[in-house]
Amino acid sequence: MSSLRKKLIAGNWKMNKTAAEASALLKDIRIGVGKRNDVEVVVCPPFTALESSAVALEGSMVKLGAQNMHHEANGAFTGEISAPMLRSLFVTHVILGHSERRTLFGDTDKFVNQKVLSAIKNQLKPILCVGETLAERDAGTTLTVVKTQLEGGLEGVNKDTAATLVIAYEPVWAIGTGKVATTEQAQEVHAFIRGLLGKLFGDQTAQKIRILYGGSMKPANAGELLAQADIDGGLVGGASLEARSFLDLVAAAGTAV
Ligand code: 13P
Repeated sequence: MSSLRKKLIAGNWKMNKTAAEASALLKDIRIGVGKRNDVEVVVCPPFTALESSAVALEGSMVKLGAQNMHHEANGAFTGEISAPMLRSLFVTHVILGHSERRTLFGDTDKFVNQKVLSAIKNQLKPILCVGETLAERDAGTTLTVVKTQLEGGLEGVNKDTAATLVIAYEPVWAIGTGKVATTEQAQEVHAFIRGLLGKLFGDQTAQKIRILYGGSMKPANAGELLAQADIDGGLVGGASLEARSFLDLVAAAGTAV
């Protein structure tokens, strides 16, 4: 029953936008979103733009997310950022285990799991990313890969806090390629993830957890994806970098039931 879950559109800006550019984009996004609260909207600028973004979003419905964090609160971890630091900038969400982190920066399931637990402990909502590569899909191991990443990432997560989790299914072959998963391919994996969440946390909780699709989501293909029973929103890269396309996605999520 998707009606239990408010749709969520999250923009992952990746390594794009200076602080000034972020403020300019958010000015348009905040006007476009206005007072609408039928869709939850989150933007995830780079660390260097979080502070100016928090200022630009003050009093708006749009929430602020980060793209990564370290699990320790502080210490000798050059170049890293902790959950309390994000919290102090009014960040509410954090993307964890993005495939770019996993493949380019060596994030393992164990490391991602430590971050998930630290985020929850610090009242940040993790957006945990899972997804298979093209080789894994071709080898028929999609569901095994997703299961390993999901169970590994969520180890030790308490049933009582699980409903605040957000999961993002991002087939790696669809990220930034313009190659979107078919609605059937996406829905199959989303339903599988919800089943796994049911086993981990019970069906009632699993029905409350949003599962986002990510990978070349655009206004043109979003309606069909968002109409699927277990697709509760999108984690959007390229199309989140311009106000028009991002707002069109928010509108598509608002009309999709
Ligand atoms: P694109 O929307 O650019 O394919 O990126 C998806 C993504 O990786 C979001 O986290």
